[in-house]
Amino acid sequence: MNMLQCYFFIILIILIHKSKSNLNPCDDFHDYVCSSDDRIIRNFTVERENIVRIPKGFIDDNKTLAIENVMNFTYFGKWYIEMLVLYNRGNTIKDCADIPDDKKPMCLIGLLDNINTTEIDVFYNALLSNINILETIKPPNGKRNRFLHWMFQTLKNETLKEIQRNGFAKDVFGVKNVHSFYALYDFNNVTVYKKARHAYETKFHQVSNNLSKKDKSMRNIDKFIRFAAIDAAMQVIQEYLDKYDARFMFQAIIANPTNDAFQYLGNIHIAIITRNDLQQPNKAIADTVFVTLHEILHKVYPYGEAEFENDQYSKTYNCSAESIKYLGKTDKVTPVENWFTLSNSHEDIVNIMALRVVMRLIAQKSINEEQMKKSLENLMGGLCVNRKMKNSAIPQHHPLELSLNNAVRQYPLFNNLYNCKKGDRMFVDLKDQCKPIEKNISIDDFVLGDVTNRTDVGGFFEDLLRTAKNMGFYFGEL
Ligand SMILES: *[C@@H]1O[C@H](CO)[C@@H](O)[C@H](O)[C@H]1NC(C)=O
Ligand SMILES: *[C@@H]1O[C@H](CO)[C@@H](O)[C@H](O)[C@H]1NC(C)=O
Ligand SMILES: *[C@@H]1O[C@H](CO)[C@@H](O)[C@H](O)[C@H]1NC(C)=O
Ligand SMILES: *[C@@H]1O[C@H](CO)[C@@H](O)[C@H](O)[C@H]1NC(C)=O
Ligand SMILES: *[C@@H]1O[C@H](CO)[C@@H](O)[C@H](O)[C@H]1NC(C)=O
Ligand SMILES: *[C@@H]1O[C@H](CO)[C@@H](O)[C@H](O)[C@H]1NC(C)=O
Ligand SMILES: *[C@@H]1O[C@H](CO)[C@@H](O)[C@H](O)[C@H]1NC(C)=O
Ligand SMILES: *[C@@H]1O[C@H](CO)[C@@H](O)[C@H](O)[C@H]1NC(C)=O
Ligand SMILES: *[C@@H]1O[C@H](CO)[C@@H](O)[C@H](O)[C@H]1NC(C)=O
Ligand SMILES: *[C@@H]1O[C@H](CO)[C@@H](O)[C@H](O)[C@H]1NC(C)=O
Ligand SMILES: [Zn+2]
Repeated sequence: MNMLQCYFFIILIILIHKSKSNLNPCDDFHDYVCSSDDRIIRNFTVERENIVRIPKGFIDDNKTLAIENVMNFTYFGKWYIEMLVLYNRGNTIKDCADIPDDKKPMCLIGLLDNINTTEIDVFYNALLSNINILETIKPPNGKRNRFLHWMFQTLKNETLKEIQRNGFAKDVFGVKNVHSFYALYDFNNVTVYKKARHAYETKFHQVSNNLSKKDKSMRNIDKFIRFAAIDAAMQVIQEYLDKYDARFMFQAIIANPTNDAFQYLGNIHIAIITRNDLQQPNKAIADTVFVTLHEILHKVYPYGEAEFENDQYSKTYNCSAESIKYLGKTDKVTPVENWFTLSNSHEDIVNIMALRVVMRLIAQKSINEEQMKKSLENLMGGLCVNRKMKNSAIPQHHPLELSLNNAVRQYPLFNNLYNCKKGDRMFVDLKDQCKPIEKNISIDDFVLGDVTNRTDVGGFFEDLLRTAKNMGFYFGEL
């Protein structure tokens, strides 16, 4: 999917407790941290139901109407296009634009040859999954999580500062206008999801039952009716979430139960209930912070061409590409074949930038380098990909283990913190560090600074969780 391309994959797996690492951080920081990953991540199965339930009390009144009389074609195009976006398919409904009105329904229905029932049902199944997750986790009812939005503002402000510090105008990349949606932490009224489900089912059976036998036997009619049902459900959702674009919310509902994040129409979707061990809130919040920054920074390095006046963009692509290729070549575990694609580099670049931004925040909240190291390890710990095979493929990304190690070796203070030396695999000389937006990289921008008057808050993530608690938000004990 074009615009949803920046999925940030984490594979959900329940882990066996592993013994503490004796690996060398200067050789493979990911393995150094992740070999002792003991997170337990809940495994929610995504519902798969091809039969739309008949809602309670539904009465079939045996009408025999023509399709034009039971369907509104206006919204069909809207949701059909969103389906194409979801599955990254190119064709549009323009093909039917010049068809006379009486032939239009047949033309539109014909388009549905491009999409199968299972694919359309992803929306209905997502509604069922949202309900299932909410009924299992039982989060306190909430709309717009105060803490997470405060955190988002903090990260956005820091990103804007970073942009300005490097001599760019504050709003040049459009970062200011990015909004966020923290999925089931941000809107979790299960009654509303149930109402949406009911609206879907009712509409589906109403339209189906009202149709004449002849129209009911049309090709693709079953799929077509599903779009009417989607619209009915989305109307319920929109009543409660009118601050977000309906098209974004459609994609969000589908993505809520999955373990990913994406940016679409200027909004960021971040699912965190299902991708973390909520009993390890430090890691859960670290994951959330990093992925949020990753998505914000896609504004600076989006998919495709960025608009830099000079050649900084292509230089950065080259620099990051060379760096990650080196890591791939020297990894103990050989990555999947043909893993490298230059045009995937924007994903690695935003990871480099995200780590630099968060490490600066971490420095401000630390009183010694031990706290900084602990925070960096916690950050990696929240992002560990513990799957059977290291360095396996992810669509449109380089293997996550490589991309994360790449970000760490491009963090200017890393060598100092871990005492890595020239020749170590993770070592990159300061002068060779990639510069996605920087004119110059100075170690001074990353150091602790004067800590004489700094309060010991226990480190950045501890402080963040304390703030969360003060705002009434808890991970874990939902
Ligand atoms: C998680 O769910 C998937 C799909 O149902 C299943 O294949 C897998 O074995 C489960 N994993 C664990 C660790 O329970
Ligand atoms: C519709 O038809 C079905 C069977 O053909 C019948 O059972 C049902 O009672 C009818 N509904 C109404 C409202 O007439
Ligand atoms: C379709 O049938 C339902 C009852 O099942 C009825 O309430 C509705 O008005 C009908 N719609 C149309 C367009 O006739
Ligand atoms: C169809 O839906 C559109 C958009 O929701 C609405 O403006 C229009 O009035 C509807 N048309 C009919 C015939 O209901
Ligand atoms: C629907 O399409 C998907 C590919 O997107 C395919 O995996 C699946 O088997 C198809 N289902 C049916 C019922 O044809
Ligand atoms: C972010 O910056 C804006 C504008 O400077 C300011 O009003 C707001 O309080 C800041 N928010 C946070 C959480 O720092
Ligand atoms: C959830 O939504 C329903 C409306 O569908 C509303 O009656 C209820 O008050 C909401 N619950 C909370 C806690 O906001
Ligand atoms: C980076 O640039 C150098 C010099 O132009 C070139 O030889 C190299 O192939 C480039 N690397 C990538 C990954 O494109
Ligand atoms: C970058 O920093 C180095 C060392 O501090 C300095 O010599 C050089 O002039 C700086 N370059 C720019 C463009 O500021
Ligand atoms: C620390 O606080 C003291 C007392 O307020 C002040 O005199 C001193 O200048 C401060 N030191 C720094 C480095 O800010
Ligand atoms: Zn991305």
